Amino acid sequence: MKDREQKHFDRISEKYHKASDSWKIIYEQIEKRINPLITDKVVLDVGNGGLFAYDLARPSQILVMDVSANQLSSICDTRITKIVSDAREMRTIENGSVDVIIFVMVLHHISGNSFCESIETLEGILSEARSKLRPGGHLVVAEALLSPVLFRVQKLCFQLTRSILHRFGVSMVFFCTQTILAERIAKVFEIELQEIETTDLNLKGWVDPLGGCFPGLIKIPASMHPWDFKLMIASLRLGIES
Ligand SMILES: C[S@@+](CC[C@H](N)C(=O)[O-])C[C@H]1O[C@@H](n2cnc3c(N)ncnc32)[C@H](O)[C@@H]1O
Repeated sequence: MKDREQKHFDRISEKYHKASDSWKIIYEQIEKRINPLITDKVVLDVGNGGLFAYDLARPSQILVMDVSANQLSSICDTRITKIVSDAREMRTIENGSVDVIIFVMVLHHISGNSFCESIETLEGILSEARSKLRPGGHLVVAEALLSPVLFRVQKLCFQLTRSILHRFGVSMVFFCTQTILAERIAKVFEIELQEIETTDLNLKGWVDPLGGCFPGLIKIPASMHPWDFKLMIASLRLGIES
């Protein structure tokens, strides 16, 4: 699966960056909320894609990780450490060394071979993230989420969608509902659901729903977008078992 994600983003990288204007409004809302969390902190930005939803001057250190080297090629700032790696295995990052770990619009790109495997993969990545955080550190997730009805449709169509996307060389995506994502975060971080701070991220105007793959092909009013965008922030209270 990792190879497919890598090939997909290596191939569409240029288009992806051109299409990213549609999402600027979301990055601005994320930035307002996370800038205070990252001041003088070590930040690990997973699936960074060469796009930053925060003020680069604030952290004491920025590590960006992405499975696609092409997605990171536009980053020239020598203060930023680039790591080309799969988020499923963050072996190069020392356990308990990160203050804030960020996933902006990336978790849905990391799926499994089946619906169940995709849920397991999500839990595995959240566990990796947890192990990298210092106690008191923060997990920041910005995600596109499905309604429970669309989630059931996704479950029914999982294998069919997967085979169609693979035929076109596109990596499979897997979207959660808000409840499913929050429950997984709470489980892995051993916190209560209410402890996860959740904020709406609102798109405005006209957006390009096909993003990197077919930029500019169609634009729809933001209010008709089938996904709900949320920012979730969880804190790691407990220590790290190494
Ligand atoms: C939709 S883009 C989001 C990029 C950026 N965070 C943003 O907000 O625009 C998803 C990013 O996740 C990366 N990605 C996909 N699968 C990954 C994996 N298994 N491990 C690490 N990064 C991955 C892609 O290469 C891509 O840069």
